[in-house]
Amino acid sequence: MKRPRVFVTRLIPGEGLAAVRAHCQADIWPGELPPPRQEILQRVAGVDGILSLLTDSIDGAVMDAAGPRLKVISNYAVGFDNVHIAQATARGIPVGNTPGVLTDTTADFAFALLMAAARRVADGDRFTRAGRWKTWGPMLLLGQDITGATLGLIGFGRIGQGMARRAQGFDMKVLYHDPDRQDDRFGARAVDLDSLLRRSDFVSLHVPLTTETHHLVNANALSRMKPTAILINTARGGVVDSEALYHALKTDQIAGAALDVTEPEPIPADHPLLELDNVIIAPHMASASVATRGKMARMAAANLIAGLEGERLPHCVNPQVYAETP
Ligand code: DGY
Repeated sequence: MKRPRVFVTRLIPGEGLAAVRAHCQADIWPGELPPPRQEILQRVAGVDGILSLLTDSIDGAVMDAAGPRLKVISNYAVGFDNVHIAQATARGIPVGNTPGVLTDTTADFAFALLMAAARRVADGDRFTRAGRWKTWGPMLLLGQDITGATLGLIGFGRIGQGMARRAQGFDMKVLYHDPDRQDDRFGARAVDLDSLLRRSDFVSLHVPLTTETHHLVNANALSRMKPTAILINTARGGVVDSEALYHALKTDQIAGAALDVTEPEPIPADHPLLELDNVIIAPHMASASVATRGKMARMAAANLIAGLEGERLPHCVNPQVYAETP
């Protein structure tokens, strides 16, 4: 029997790729960098499935370039703002993602960023490497305490709740703001966004990027934060207005930021944020553990294969495609 044709936009961990290769005739983009747009448009022609990464824009034009055989789009990420979901739904194409398996790994990293920024780990490392460590100093590299501080979580889904669980171990007071949840758990209390911004020592973002959350953290939001506050973003770069953040950090309106995601991404080497010492910037690596990336690969492969076989995707972000037509 003829195996379905799929385009896989990058090499993913072997456990997922092996399953894809076993079931499909797979065209796998071998580059370290994402396939250019034109390459995607050409390679998807006539495929049955696409396994995409968060770096690929999968919009209606890509779906049309694939043509009528396209049965499934499986995104190797929990976030899916790179896929035009409404366009997929309009064409009856289910879109899969990889929820759950990266929750703890991402929350671990968000907490690591919080601690690194609060305790100036990157500053200390730069200081040492520059040969500036001459003695122990009573005022040297003073940071902020984490134990007992107030953590504000914007978004209280799986990863936000993971942060609250971790914060319990540091006796932190935890506030959250999430219009979809009023379900206090792990010692966290729901508050409005204004109180969260005004009261938190650390503000950590855990919302998807949507039209509602785009630039949610703008000049106005930053102006309501404490001058000692630190912003942590492991969600999506577009949730923060980078220009406003640069201004807030440069003028000491807030004390620091630790970002795993930026807008644009990757951040250009000459971006003004990179001139500042009170910001830590990691290259979108919060889910980057060997085990988690392997689980994501297996999950993305399972979504792809289910879609190709006409089965319901184990993790589908647009289940409306399965709605019975009356
Ligand atoms: C995701 O899955 O959405 C993360 O940003 C990368 O793991």
